[in-house]
Amino acid sequence: MRMTPYRACTLLLWTVSLGLIVFLWVRGSEYYLTPLVERPRQEAYWALKPGGPVGRAYGIVGASLMVVMQLYSVRKRIRPFRGWGPLRYWLDFHIFCGVLGPLFILLHSSLKVHGLVALSFWSMVIVASSGVLGRFLYLQIPRRRSGDELSLQEVEAESTMLAERIRSEFGLTQAAIDQLDKVAVSGLSSQISLGRLLLRLPFEGIRLRLRLGAQLGRMKNLPPKSFRKLAGLSRQRAQLQRRVLLMAKLQELFYYWHVFHKPFAIVMYIFMFVHIGVALMTGYAWGGG
Ligand code: HEM
Repeated sequence: MRMTPYRACTLLLWTVSLGLIVFLWVRGSEYYLTPLVERPRQEAYWALKPGGPVGRAYGIVGASLMVVMQLYSVRKRIRPFRGWGPLRYWLDFHIFCGVLGPLFILLHSSLKVHGLVALSFWSMVIVASSGVLGRFLYLQIPRRRSGDELSLQEVEAESTMLAERIRSEFGLTQAAIDQLDKVAVSGLSSQISLGRLLLRLPFEGIRLRLRLGAQLGRMKNLPPKSFRKLAGLSRQRAQLQRRVLLMAKLQELFYYWHVFHKPFAIVMYIFMFVHIGVALMTGYAWGGG
């Protein structure tokens, strides 16, 4: 994978942010590891408890990240915002806030979760963890560099273009390319059940790599650098072939994932705002509790 300036900045941001979270956990570890009933005897209690100045700041940062992360939906769904840069950058932003936000909320809670706000907390845990699966499924659906979905015709056109490159750059015959196509979709069917597809998907990448590598090894004797390039192009094309075959099923799977992800997000936001409202109204948020 090529290291573009965008990738380098993203990597730096993730490293610094996760480093900060680890630092904050380590710094407060003595307090966080103390049983709840003994915490008020600790000096750190007044700062780190959820209503203390530091604990409260963690809550504000976490909740703010979880609100601004929805700019992704704004950019995706509301027409006047469509000009706000490629969707994939907004999804990266969504994911960054969706990971960092819950980690700050975890610090804010100081691992003390009970009452009504527990509903928000556990919904947050479910929605953020299920996001990992969503990201994986999202990547299975062929997209433009911008992040928008490719149509079936666009995928087929790209696949034809790759076949042309393989033919002209490496001299593979049509029969050899047909052979590679067979390897690409072997053992898969457009009628596969969603459960089976979900179980198989995580292993398909490595399975494809091994099978294609073996098939190409039998077909062509090339210097290692050229072989790697041919294998890369063949994999790209094979992935497109598979995605064409499974497109309808992948979209269905992603649709069900949305149906699961969104309600937990809604519950999380409702109880998060109720919790913030109660904390503000009772004065708990400003040092009372
Ligand atoms: C508390 C944290 C999170 C909340 C509240 C949340 C909420 C949401 C919501 C409401 C949507 C629907 C957006 C739309 O279609 O307009 C969404 C989509 C999505 N989220 Fe999250 N999310 C969270 C964390 C994450 C994380 C951690 C990841 C990845 C690791 C993630 C990955 C995704 C993906 C891939 C989509 C689908 C994008 C699409 O279909 O265009 N989310 N999320």
